[in-house]
Parts: sequence; structure tokens; C-alpha cells
Amino acid sequence: MSDPVLLSVEGVAVDLPTPRGNLRAVDQVDLRIGAGRTLGVVGESGCGKTMLSRAILQLLPRKARLSGRVMFDGQDLVRLEPEQLRKLRGRSIAVVFQDPMTSLNPVLTIGTQLIETLQEHLELGALAAKKRSAELLAAVGIPAPEQRLMQYPHQLSGGMRQRVAIAIALSCEPKLLIADEPTTALDVTVQAQILDLLAREQRRRHMAMILITHDLGVVAGRTDEVAVMYAGRVVERAPTPELFKRMRMPYTEALLAAIPKIDAAPHTPLPAISGRPPDPTRPIQGCSFSPRCRYAASRCFREKPLLADADRLDHQYACFHPIQVAAGICA
Ligand SMILES: Nc1ncnc2c1ncn2[C@@H]1O[C@H](COP(=O)(O)OP(=O)(O)OP(=O)(O)O)[C@@H](O)[C@H]1O
Ligand code: SF4
Ligand SMILES: [Mg+2]
Repeated sequence: MSDPVLLSVEGVAVDLPTPRGNLRAVDQVDLRIGAGRTLGVVGESGCGKTMLSRAILQLLPRKARLSGRVMFDGQDLVRLEPEQLRKLRGRSIAVVFQDPMTSLNPVLTIGTQLIETLQEHLELGALAAKKRSAELLAAVGIPAPEQRLMQYPHQLSGGMRQRVAIAIALSCEPKLLIADEPTTALDVTVQAQILDLLAREQRRRHMAMILITHDLGVVAGRTDEVAVMYAGRVVERAPTPELFKRMRMPYTEALLAAIPKIDAAPHTPLPAISGRPPDPTRPIQGCSFSPRCRYAASRCFREKPLLADADRLDHQYACFHPIQVAAGICA
């Protein structure tokens, strides 16, 4: 990676106390992303993608315990005061959620929300903020932006609302955008438009982006690097073209086979992978994927494979029997 490192997640774990015992939602994750680069984070529902993004943003549930370091632009976010974090969020790190209604205020007009964000973070005057708001709406493909500024979120379609949420996220020129399943709640026809919009703005602004999805198909061609998560861990990490050319982890292969059908409901188990992910309150001894892995051998049930470098330095996987060259042949 030639760009300087912007975000470095180091040994991050998130534990949540539950009535069933401790739930390890994120388990010793290490990730880096360079300025202006894109990272896809892919995995099934419940594998810890959102908890990881919340750990980066320091927006975890109150009872959660976070360990490890989150270095962003030279600062450890875990150690920042709430006021410093509040300034950083929105200004330097922005987020787009799956459901735009999560980030939009239903009782304020779109204009008020955009203008307030610009005034708070960029200290623009009222007129300049209004002008900039209309420009931002136009940039995210919203027709008649001046009129839209006077509307409320419920007056817009789901796709238009997500465009507004993206405009607000981009308004302060963040260095990093985290997009957590930004299209899962949208119509199939709108999904590609929103993903293309994010990709275009990411390139144009030289902004780093973490694109979180359960669909391996979404990150293909839209990211520089992919981290595949399973049961709270990163189990394979590689530059995107390398991953698709030569995936080594049986779980990644299963995800590829399970690229969701366009009409599948969000958060449904992936049909092509038999069984379910392990209960995160009951850690299993060996490889977490072993109960579902068609290549599992005795060692897989005894020992936990660690994420290690493969023959290429930038390709890591956590598997005792990685797939060799052609899919379906294991070592
Ligand atoms: N507030 C919470 N309290 C306790 N456990 C939680 C909470 N939120 C999530 N979890 C659990 O943490 C684990 C990781 O959840 P997370 O939401 O990060 O998964 P995800 O990969 O984002 O899934 P999805 O694709 O459905 O969004 C899951 O086992 C989930 O049940
Ligand atoms: S370590 Fe074993 S069980 Fe785990 S993914 Fe690799 S082959 Fe499958
Ligand atoms: Mg999620």
C-alpha cells in the first residue's frame, strides 16, 4: 500500500455481556486502510461487521467492552475525550447506515439538517451553507435541489433518502467514510446507482472508504482490498483482484457461491452455506467454520487457525487447508 496509513485497527475485540454469558462480537481484528483507499468488509449476518464499524467510530453500546487500539490520523480514538470524538465524527469520519432514517431526523427538513451540519463543522455562514447544501444535493444526483431542501425525509423515496444521507455524510469532506450495508434496504434497481455514486464520490474526493456488506458481489470491482469476517474474526484479507483470482479460505469460497439472489430479503441466512455461524456466547475450540466446512479435517476441530501470510505478503488467511489454485482442491 503506497498511500500513508489513515486508519489502523490493532487487536480490536468487543465483548458484550448478555444473559447467556459474554458475547465476543469482534475478536482480535487487525486492519489498515490507506488515505484514499477502499476496503470491503464482507461476511454473513451476525459476524461482527457493524460492531467493528461501531468500534472504529467509538459508538458501541454502553455495556460493551472494547480492547485494542484504533489509530486514526495519528490519534488513538479509544483514548479521545467524548467532545473530541464528537468533533471528529461527521467532520473527519462519516458514516452511512443501511436505513437512512437512522441518520435523518424525521422532524427537520433536509435543508435544516444539511445546513446545521455544515455550520457546526465548517463554521459556514447561513447563506454559504444553504448554497453549499444545494450543491451537495445536486452532486449526489438529486433533481431540483433547491426545492428538496424544503422537504422532510418522509417526502422522499428510500433511494432519495439514502442520497441525502450520503450528501450529509460527504458535506464536511471526511477523510474516511464508513458505509454499513448502504443499499441493503433499497430496491434492487436503486442499489447499483447508490454504490456507483459512493464509488464516484470516493474517487473524486480521494476519501478512504470502508464498504460493509454481506454480498461478496458488491465489493468486486468497487474496492482495493477485501477483509472477509467470520464469527467476529477476519479470516481472509487480500487485494480485491487477488482475492477473486485466488481465494484461499473455504468460507470465502462459500460466500462467493452464496452471492445473494437479487430478491432475497436482507439479513437472511445465506442459502448456499449449510448450517449457521456458531453461537458467539459459546466459543468453539477449533476453527469456527469447522462445523460447516466441507474441507474440515481432524486438526480443524482441535486448533484455531490464525490469520497468516500466504505466499504473497498482502494475502492473509486463517485456514489449515487452504484452497489450492482451482476452487475445490484443498491442501
Ligand atoms: N446491542 C447488542 N447487544 C448484544 N449483542 C449484540 C448487540 N448488537 C449486536 N449484537 C451481537 O453481536 C454480534 C455481531 O453483530 P453485528 O451487528 O456486528 O453483525 P453484522 O455482521 O453487522 O450483521 P448484519 O449483517 O445482520 O448487520 C451478533 O452476534 C449480534 O447478535
Ligand atoms: S481450518 Fe479447516 S475447518 Fe477451518 S476453514 Fe480451513 S479447512 Fe475449513
Ligand atoms: Mg450489520
